[in-house]
Amino acid sequence: MAFSGHGSSMCLVEDGRICRAVNLERMTRTKFSRATIPEMQPAIDAVRTNYFRLDTPRYFNFYEVFPEMLKYVTGTDSLKEAEIDLIVKPNDNIPFGAVSEEVYAGFLKYFGSTKTHFDFEHHLCHAYQAFLCSPFEECAFMSVDGSGERLARHNMNSLSMTLGSGSGARVNTMSEVTFPSTLGGMYSTVTTHLGFREHQEGNTMALAAFGGDEFYEQVKDAYSVHSDGTFNFDLEWKDGKAVGLEIARAMHEYCPPREPDSELDQRHRNVAWAMQKIAEDVLINAARGLHERTGHDRLAIAGGVGLNCVANTKMLEESPMKSIYICPNAGDRGLAAGAALYGYHVVLGQKERHPPSTDYLGRSYSDSEIGAALKECSNVEYQRSEDICADTAELISRGHIVGWFQGGAEFGPRALGHRSILGDPRTTASKKRLDEEIKRREWFRPYAPSVLAQHSHRFFDLECESPYMLLAADTRSEVRSEIDGVVHVDGSARIQTVTEEGEPRYHRLISEFHRRTDIPIVLNTSFNGNGEPIVETPENALATMKSMGLDSLSVGDYLVWPKDAPYAGEMKALHSRSD
Ligand SMILES: [Fe+2]
Repeated sequence: MAFSGHGSSMCLVEDGRICRAVNLERMTRTKFSRATIPEMQPAIDAVRTNYFRLDTPRYFNFYEVFPEMLKYVTGTDSLKEAEIDLIVKPNDNIPFGAVSEEVYAGFLKYFGSTKTHFDFEHHLCHAYQAFLCSPFEECAFMSVDGSGERLARHNMNSLSMTLGSGSGARVNTMSEVTFPSTLGGMYSTVTTHLGFREHQEGNTMALAAFGGDEFYEQVKDAYSVHSDGTFNFDLEWKDGKAVGLEIARAMHEYCPPREPDSELDQRHRNVAWAMQKIAEDVLINAARGLHERTGHDRLAIAGGVGLNCVANTKMLEESPMKSIYICPNAGDRGLAAGAALYGYHVVLGQKERHPPSTDYLGRSYSDSEIGAALKECSNVEYQRSEDICADTAELISRGHIVGWFQGGAEFGPRALGHRSILGDPRTTASKKRLDEEIKRREWFRPYAPSVLAQHSHRFFDLECESPYMLLAADTRSEVRSEIDGVVHVDGSARIQTVTEEGEPRYHRLISEFHRRTDIPIVLNTSFNGNGEPIVETPENALATMKSMGLDSLSVGDYLVWPKDAPYAGEMKALHSRSD
């Protein structure tokens, strides 16, 4: 389990296999839900408000949420009944030494006779998350984020990047980068300077496509990359004291912080461009350095920076790495997977290794659970479909924006066809409606295409598969106008390749859309309202469909639409039988 400042999660490993995992936010319905023991709350508040100058979000009480999370992953809220061999937790919001010995002893006592292994180093946990979730027997690894915990061996500085290799069940750390040189931290600083909220680094990445190199030219000497794969940011000095970072100083001089929701001018776009370029330089250099030092041409990545799909693709293109695996839940909420796999392989010494082949690690909801939710839901009509894939594809081809709820939820932040909102990629009409009426997102953010893997080459310039939507690819210019709704301003697309083995039902839906339109692609965005977590239950899906104004919802085998919708007759006339 993991209780970091970016969110809390739990993951169950049995016989070397991740059988179920959940992010706390999906249960509480508060995005990036954190939890800690009540005694830690004052210390957390002080750090966030005094040091980071951030609003203090609500923290949930660990003792209240732990049984619920345990029940989600094991089926029981009793540790005794769950028969857990070991619980592993990295250093996070419940650290040893931050509360009195009595309080910490009380926390440990909570787990009774269940064996625990706590206070595992944050970046080591990311390293195991990257390596043990990857399909590689041996590889280089990169853990890269904002920062981990403060470490005595680094004068109480925290790590922001570790580089090394993995083999068997062990990782070997070769280099470490410490605060204040932090790629994730700088990316977050730039993101808030640009007027976006915490955790909206994706906005900066998207905005970068509109920028130019004017600001980069001013800061390109304020950081350096080294042949061992590490990097550092130059410090800003005043009266003989280091007071900040050169890049941040230059950014403040170049343009003042932007007020949220105010106009974005070219300077903001140029700052985003520069930050993205710095991230790419640092990461490509790290991949090159790792190849040089380890000889591996396979790389596993974890840490929040791993969600930067544009930089991931650049690493593939511009380093000798031939294969890159990025954890779908790359950030701190994925630490639960690293912790559990480390516990199984290293602490317990078990050998059986079955890395996850999917990110659909949430629990599924049965037909009768879906039926019960439908019966309770007001102001909707529904019918059971004989072919939900064909019916949904038909609706998308007619311009509907559809909620698509199937199987267990994705563990990571990308919706991959289990908790998705789908639309027609052929024109910008769906994107416009999603931006303005449904998701109410910034106009400059692109929507992603889910493409049948076997047809990906017709549209995208990408040699490998991208099952977790963590690579960006150039769209081939000759077909770009056929899929306007999913191409970014620079011609790139953040693609998800879909195979029949990977997700048969989603694959069939896209195949049905292909049959109707000759386009083997649907527009895919996450099934959540603005500022809300991705839907977890059928009840969440129904409520979100109504609040967002989706045209219809495909939940399991049921088609659902708003009562009295002008197209109700059209829905009923689909080749379906009424339930
Ligand atoms: Fe992290």
